[in-house]
Amino acid sequence: MREELAAKRARDIRGMFGRIAQRYDLLNRTLSLGCDRRWRRAVAARVATAAPRRLLDVCTGTGDLALGQPTAGSVYGCDFCLPILALARAKSAAAATRPAWFAADALCLPLADGALDAVTVAFGIRNFEDLEAGLHELARVLRPRGRVVILEFSTPRGALAPVLRWWVRHVPPLLGRLISGDGEAYRYLSTSVATFPDGDELCGLLEAAGFAGVRATPLTGGVATLYDGARAGDGRVR
Ligand SMILES: C[S@@+](CC[C@H](N)C(=O)[O-])C[C@H]1O[C@@H](n2cnc3c(N)ncnc32)[C@H](O)[C@@H]1O
Repeated sequence: MREELAAKRARDIRGMFGRIAQRYDLLNRTLSLGCDRRWRRAVAARVATAAPRRLLDVCTGTGDLALGQPTAGSVYGCDFCLPILALARAKSAAAATRPAWFAADALCLPLADGALDAVTVAFGIRNFEDLEAGLHELARVLRPRGRVVILEFSTPRGALAPVLRWWVRHVPPLLGRLISGDGEAYRYLSTSVATFPDGDELCGLLEAAGFAGVRATPLTGGVATLYDGARAGDGRVR
């Protein structure tokens, strides 16, 4: 029963991203007032310190994060939604970096244990039907001391929190409906952010999944948070 529900949730999520794929980039820029580009550059800067030779961007969507990775090695991008992955592929035809794209579910990656030096995920883990299983899978495909960098929405804190929370709760459903015609998808964005673990709680889940040295860096008043860490060095995935 639980597996059936999980499969349905995954199907729903895949369908939802398929429906909004064409307007996804425009809505990203609009809803974040352009901040999403800066957030992705922060991910790329963290990844660069590890100088990975084999990097996978999981839940790559339209591919912006994979396309912005400054590495001399191989970059891969995967997603389980084919229409959005097709947009990533089309973008890379004109780009300097040419990641290799493939379709895959993040919870069951078609890669050997320890195959990668770095894994990134931007705004993807919130959609996993089983968060713990997904984080374990990210750890499995990384070599010991391989780097994970995750960008995810979080609950704003601090002086501007009331304004930022109001924005996250009310603006995405409204603009989402106007621009993509799919208010439901952007209502999902607001509600899923409000209930998703963030900060120390997510750091704890990453550690439990087999990562060490995990840090959380809030961005733009905590609207998003950048998490990074390394797969625990003993090669064991707990
Ligand atoms: C909010 S978008 C983020 C896209 C991109 N990373 C970005 O920064 O714009 C979430 C993406 O995750 C993908 N996704 C969600 N769950 C997934 C899973 N279990 N396996 C693979 N892709 C998944 C969706 O299809 C969608 O393209």
